Amino acid sequence: MSATSPARPVLPPDIRARKGSQPLVVLTAYTTPVARLVDPHCDIALVGDSLGMVLHGMPSTLGVTLEMMILHGRAVVRGLTRAMAVIDMPFGSYEESPQQAYRNAARLMAETAAPAVKLEGGAHMAETISFLCARGVPVMAHIGLTPQAVNTLGGYKVVGRDGEADRVLADALAVQAAGAFSVVLEKVPVGLAARITQSLDIPTIGIGAGVDCDGQVLVVDDMLGLFTEFRPKFVKRYADLGALADQAIATYAAEVRARTFPAPEHGFADTLPKGAK
Ligand code: KIV
Repeated sequence: MSATSPARPVLPPDIRARKGSQPLVVLTAYTTPVARLVDPHCDIALVGDSLGMVLHGMPSTLGVTLEMMILHGRAVVRGLTRAMAVIDMPFGSYEESPQQAYRNAARLMAETAAPAVKLEGGAHMAETISFLCARGVPVMAHIGLTPQAVNTLGGYKVVGRDGEADRVLADALAVQAAGAFSVVLEKVPVGLAARITQSLDIPTIGIGAGVDCDGQVLVVDDMLGLFTEFRPKFVKRYADLGALADQAIATYAAEVRARTFPAPEHGFADTLPKGAK
């Protein structure tokens, strides 16, 4: 956990207050064991809807359901003592109306005990963000490349080049004005991300948005080398756990076939030696 984190569980106002100070450290987590690994080092464990692709083998995040987010959200919250859980609102659970968004955000928070949600969208989601914030739902916004809009964007492209920059900045200002406590900038050119970060009073959390954001987020399976289907340019691999796991599984399979595992020490005696319990 960062030096500036409080001695109690982190809450949205703590994240908001980190603007311009120590960088915010964010990783995704989808399970209790990974949440336990993330907790001592990160400010936020993001239960991202990327879990659809990373854990469930879906081709995009569009098939992720509220029930999946609740199940994984609960598991992550169980593994945290300090870092704050933020849960993604899945595609179709908030876009229809502020009321629909509130109903589903309230379920996410009540059934997982996470203190905040994240949703994708800029100016067009401002009314919903404002509705949620006024009713006790802290919102992290997500602009730039919004993967749930992959079909309208025409792919996972950089957003904010070629005359789009002012619109992305307007999105950032709109979600801030609506009450978001922070905003994820995904796949936004570095100069624009710096401009947005300078223009906002709330922290920006970058993913593929350069070094000038107030914090960074990565998908944990990407940085650990566990998700290998594709590797975006912005991912730095800090370990190759996929290769280690492959090696371990191959050794296990070879030992089972050679009958060298299980060995005598892995078995249970039929009769206990005298005096043993
Ligand atoms: O779903 C996710 O993991 C995300 C992050 C990549 C920001 O939204």
